[in-house]
Amino acid sequence: MKAQILPGPKAKALIARDHAVVSHSYPRGYPFVMDHGKGTEVWDVDGNRYLDFAAGIAVAATGHSHPDVVRAIQEQAEKFIHISSDFYHEKWVQLSEELNEIAPFKEDARVFLTNSGTESVEGAIKLARYHTNRPNFIGFFGGFHGRTIGAVTFTASKNKYKRGFSPLMNGVSHAPFPDPYRPILDLTPGEDYGERVVRYIEEQILEQLSPPSEVAGILVEPIQGEGGYVVPPPGFFPALRKLCDQHGILLIVDEVQAGMGRTGKWWSIENFGVEPDIVTSAKGIASGVPLGAVIARKSVMSWPKGSHGNTYGGNPLACAASLATINAIKNGYLENTRNTGAYTIQKLEEMQIRHPCIGQVRGMGFMIGIEFIKDPQTKDPDEALRDRVVDLAFEHGLLTLGCGKSVIRISPPLCTSKEQVDEGLNILEEAISIAENG
Ligand SMILES: Cc1ncc(COP(=O)(O)O)c(C=O)c1O
Repeated sequence: MKAQILPGPKAKALIARDHAVVSHSYPRGYPFVMDHGKGTEVWDVDGNRYLDFAAGIAVAATGHSHPDVVRAIQEQAEKFIHISSDFYHEKWVQLSEELNEIAPFKEDARVFLTNSGTESVEGAIKLARYHTNRPNFIGFFGGFHGRTIGAVTFTASKNKYKRGFSPLMNGVSHAPFPDPYRPILDLTPGEDYGERVVRYIEEQILEQLSPPSEVAGILVEPIQGEGGYVVPPPGFFPALRKLCDQHGILLIVDEVQAGMGRTGKWWSIENFGVEPDIVTSAKGIASGVPLGAVIARKSVMSWPKGSHGNTYGGNPLACAASLATINAIKNGYLENTRNTGAYTIQKLEEMQIRHPCIGQVRGMGFMIGIEFIKDPQTKDPDEALRDRVVDLAFEHGLLTLGCGKSVIRISPPLCTSKEQVDEGLNILEEAISIAENG
């Protein structure tokens, strides 16, 4: 694989125009300028081809421009593009029925459609307060839930998200997320680290900070995304569910990144054997058309007419794209994610043996994290090496994204084949080899 000189001339020119007028707050990584895409392949404006193992931050669930999704949007656009949430239309109802069908709890669901992950989180926070009539919440270090004032209060992955934006929302306490690779709490013999974290919530937060009768909800990503693709130990969610039941606290799972089939199940919480009360969704739900959802147990979504709403909620183009997306995931991509995801993890574990700078490979389905370390004994994160690998992979034709301190996330479209995984991992390994050699 030959490295490409990037950015090319057309990309360079467009980036200069971008810098002049687009908000500088966007966290741009390397200079990829998209021209078009098909499935897991994308091309930049200079004609260079890449494999996309980032999928627009785990959004392009069905790959780029899936023909069924394109057709659904086109057909809907011919009929009408907008009518507002003051009125009714069939695709909105149909999508809510589909989401009720796949919701990760036995009770019937009610659905509130949004325009983004952050708006879903804000909706869930408001719903939990409204339903419980309680003010406080618990979130987790390493969590990412968005950037509006409410959502960013919960976000605790990097302090740059909060710097300069205080005062934030009142009443939110944070607990450590149970990262089995980097535990920070002492364990009693035989204790599951996930159960230990729940004990911390009980003893430190509920007993010392926030009376349980005043806690509306616990907001948690079943597998942390931005925080480093961290998978909690098996004891965590059963213990957390028990704690919530004991005190009438709502369990709110943020499935914005890990949901919609990404782990090989519709919702990542289904990997842990408990039922949540509220689910937030977005990203993969409509293959890239802006759409999100708050999916709650019917008994929990108790807010009355006029208490919450939005202009674009139930946008018909987004609903059409989402229905086509769900159909494609149902008819093959869920299974592909399970099988090809397991194959990818196995290949990465083999790669780990050849490269001691890889401290851990973890994940489920197509939500896979590769953690880079300086030394297998100390496990010190190697952020510089990770950044170099991401840049080199790009120069050799593979798009990836970092997360956590020193992790690369592998989150390709759910349609990605074994052949594409092989091609992408060859590029990744070459990038790692070059980076290791300085
Ligand atoms: C778990 C999680 N929640 C919420 C959000 C915010 O979503 P959005 O950027 O669509 O507002 C993100 C975005 O990365 C996320 O990963």
